[in-house]
Amino acid sequence: MGKVRITETILRDAHQSLIATRMKLSEMLPAVERLDAIGYNALECWGGATFDSCLRFLNEDPWERLREIKKLAKKTPLQMLLRGQNLLGYKHYPDDVVDYFVQRSIANGIDIIRIFDALNDPRNLERAIAACLREGGHPQGCISYTTSPFHNAEIFVSDAKALVNMGAQSICIKDMAGLLSPENAYELIKSLKSSIKVPIELHTHYTSGLGSMTYLRAIQAGVDIIDTALSPFAMGTSQPPTEPLVAALAGTEYDTGLDVKALNDLSAYFRPIREKYLSDGRLDPRMLCPDINALIYQVPGGMLSNLVSQLKQAGAIDKYDAVLAEVPAVRADLGYPPLVTPTSQIIGSQAVLNVLSGERYKIVTNEVKGLVAGEYGKTPCPIRPEFVKQILGDKKPITCRPADLLEDKLPEFREAVAQYIEQEEDVLTYALFPQPAIAFFKKRQLSRYGYDEDHSDAARMAHYA
Ligand code: CO
Repeated sequence: MGKVRITETILRDAHQSLIATRMKLSEMLPAVERLDAIGYNALECWGGATFDSCLRFLNEDPWERLREIKKLAKKTPLQMLLRGQNLLGYKHYPDDVVDYFVQRSIANGIDIIRIFDALNDPRNLERAIAACLREGGHPQGCISYTTSPFHNAEIFVSDAKALVNMGAQSICIKDMAGLLSPENAYELIKSLKSSIKVPIELHTHYTSGLGSMTYLRAIQAGVDIIDTALSPFAMGTSQPPTEPLVAALAGTEYDTGLDVKALNDLSAYFRPIREKYLSDGRLDPRMLCPDINALIYQVPGGMLSNLVSQLKQAGAIDKYDAVLAEVPAVRADLGYPPLVTPTSQIIGSQAVLNVLSGERYKIVTNEVKGLVAGEYGKTPCPIRPEFVKQILGDKKPITCRPADLLEDKLPEFREAVAQYIEQEEDVLTYALFPQPAIAFFKKRQLSRYGYDEDHSDAARMAHYA
């Protein structure tokens, strides 16, 4: 057993989970040099929803954000989260887009790319892992943790081995819903450590209140790295807090070697930012209270609130219990995918339809058809042939890697945004989020005329008045 290393998530997952990814670069930059000095394993600071949020809500260039952080974080590896072949979007992209995106991410400052897939289909990670290796980055193979009658430690170990064979240089178990109990973590990490040589990292969320206990047991089982967030943006739907774990391990054989006093000083910097988001209502105190529903219903917290709002809209909130019971049934029909974007939305919507229409699969969403047709990849457990027939009729599901059916697209994207391009990365920004990208490019052009202080419509109207 050795020193436990810590990946700090305050610049990415922590604010994505608590304040809908709204932390601005200007709020991060004053802390980056001190974060860099702590001695973390990595700073997770990019990817996930940050890219989309920069463009759509913050009027920031995500690439510029990465370069600015890199300038100040000279020694700590910078880490990003990538949804495999979906990159940072919600559908599969052609291989040329994946290759180029990975290349530019590393060229702009990313060192470690954590790559996952909603179905844990290794073929959806393969291209991004290969591209990362080619560019000299560290590809981390990531497995979405879930529970089902089909899932057990053996399945996760064999998924992890497949990723290591593809070139993953470390493995992360991503418990996005906070379902992993301390004892299951102990057993899972023990199994992984006894069969896999590369470092093992554990990522959980505090949603159900188990997070810190789960980490402690994982550490006792030999986990190499854990993900935490500095306390002002920790707990609730975010990660367990950094400082208490560092303090708990100090002086033990697992000592992180990090300085609690320095961490505390950094938290003092982020505390007023937390207060600001609490007082403007964007940090909802309800998100900070442990919620055990995820464990009872095996449905992630975010998905429960989505179901409630869908049912309210349909004026059918009295069907809530029936829908909650239907979710695991739909998930079983679909081969037990982990409930994470986009499978959680796909399964939730179908469960609602099954209950409200009064007959299961009387109406089937296009997404469910796509999932059954293999368009998202291979489901963890094969879907029953009778069910495939019921949903697809005579159409046969595809069995190849879904992206094998996609034509290269970069030249087309390049042409579409030629008039806006100010840096080569702009092509990728457009490829991922076409409408928000164009809106952002237009604002950027306007700001060249000196109107960069106020991006409101009113200001632009005033300019043309
Ligand atoms: Co997370």
